[in-house]
Amino acid sequence: MEIKLITSSPADVETECLVIFALDHGEKQKSDARLTNRDAALEKAAAELLSTGEVTSKAYEAAMIHRPLGLKAKRLLVVNAGKAKTFTPAELRKAAGSAVRFLKPKMIKSCAFIPPDTGEADNAVRCIIESAFVADFDPDTYRSDRRDLQMGEVAIVISPASDRTAAQRTIEQARIIGESQNFTRELVNEPSNRMTPTILADRAREMCEKVGLKCEIMGPDKIKELKMGAFWSVAQGSDEEPRLIVVRYEPAGTPENPVIGLVGKGITFDTGGISIKPSDGMEKMKYDMAGGAALLGAIRAIALLKPKIRVTVIVCATENMPSGKAQKPGDVQIAMSGKSIEVINTDAEGRLVLADGLYYARTLGCNHLVDVATLTGACVVALGMINAGVFANNEDDYQRFCKALERSGEKFWRLPLDREYFEQIRSSIADMMNTGGRYGGAINAAMFLKEFVDDTPWLHLDIAGVAWMEETKGWIAKGPTGIAVRSLVEYVSSYSS
Ligand code: BES
Ligand code: MN
Ligand code: ZN
Repeated sequence: MEIKLITSSPADVETECLVIFALDHGEKQKSDARLTNRDAALEKAAAELLSTGEVTSKAYEAAMIHRPLGLKAKRLLVVNAGKAKTFTPAELRKAAGSAVRFLKPKMIKSCAFIPPDTGEADNAVRCIIESAFVADFDPDTYRSDRRDLQMGEVAIVISPASDRTAAQRTIEQARIIGESQNFTRELVNEPSNRMTPTILADRAREMCEKVGLKCEIMGPDKIKELKMGAFWSVAQGSDEEPRLIVVRYEPAGTPENPVIGLVGKGITFDTGGISIKPSDGMEKMKYDMAGGAALLGAIRAIALLKPKIRVTVIVCATENMPSGKAQKPGDVQIAMSGKSIEVINTDAEGRLVLADGLYYARTLGCNHLVDVATLTGACVVALGMINAGVFANNEDDYQRFCKALERSGEKFWRLPLDREYFEQIRSSIADMMNTGGRYGGAINAAMFLKEFVDDTPWLHLDIAGVAWMEETKGWIAKGPTGIAVRSLVEYVSSYSS
């Protein structure tokens, strides 16, 4: 998708379709639709449509006017961005994405957005471009009837008075982030026969070569040599070899400290192992590498945006399979840190691979940690499919993450890590068990991980409920969402300034 910057008045923009936003300023039942831009030509062209209430009846709905009076554009698309009172950058993202997904099936391959006058102009441009990329993605890779519906060109119209160079920079950055989020979604979308640990590592290496990152890939021998007993205990059951993927971003002239360690769960398929899952819905467990894939998307963006901060990405990639070689409930494993684990349920495999990933990150010198994982069904029970879970052992890093969320527009909700919860996973034979009963399952998993980070400032993101969308929304296709990519990029970048 090409991105263009147009500096002219809205009436003079020559485009297949000019996109503008409307907000409902009405109280209660009475609607009062107004454009987000005070522009006489636009207001005149949209007046009749707005007066009908057709656009404001439903949020993110759009209506098209052909040959709009007084405009050079061939079409005018008016998108409802919801209630004026509750309008936020996150709402603008949805409205902009909905415009792209409205035009795509109609084979309208180029459009020009007029960002709202209200709020921060630069921020609006960023939100529109990022969501245009997100909206442009469809998961139908292997459908023979797949049509080439990708948007060809999206333009942003800014007033001749505004700073063109600054807008150009914003557009470039937003493109990098949007494309990186889609890179993650492509990886997550692949089925497990086409996205084995080996293939995931190959895709990581290929991406790293393209953007100039250092990438190291290790197999079974190295994983055993490093004494990653927890990671290996999951990998041992599969005929597919595991991969430990390490990507380093070390820009020249950056201080030795801090080093941010990003650790991802890369289970390319989770059958549950010997504690096997029911077959109903098991096909979805191809997305159990969404955490690892999010980190690869994030580090791709980071390599291109070049913030001044060191980052190390670690992805623990393996299948979780039942077999004659698979670990069994009751087995005791020794993690790289030396801690012993009684494996009660082989389906709680994510925390096992992350335990070694997090500890390994510390041995590599990482002194701020973030892990990302589709870790627990319990997190989905707690937060549904709207918010992902975030756990933190450090207030500063948590606050920094909250700031990142403001910029990314992604939703996370904090869950607790009180010491008392550890009782749930206390074992009589080993240092801990890998599960802790029915209640507070997302917290039990987080408490388990906490044992391997010690005092290192750490954030744990449980994205099980939001990494895959069951239904298509106006602004995003169903399938892989690429959650956490944008927030991680913003989080890391915030250390740079
Ligand atoms: N990959 C799953 C968690 C998951 C569930 C991700 C639903 C996405 C959607 C994880 O490995 C798992 O199986 N967790 C178990 C843990 C239990 C055995 C303690 C779970 O949540 O049921
Ligand atoms: Mn599992
Ligand atoms: Zn899993």
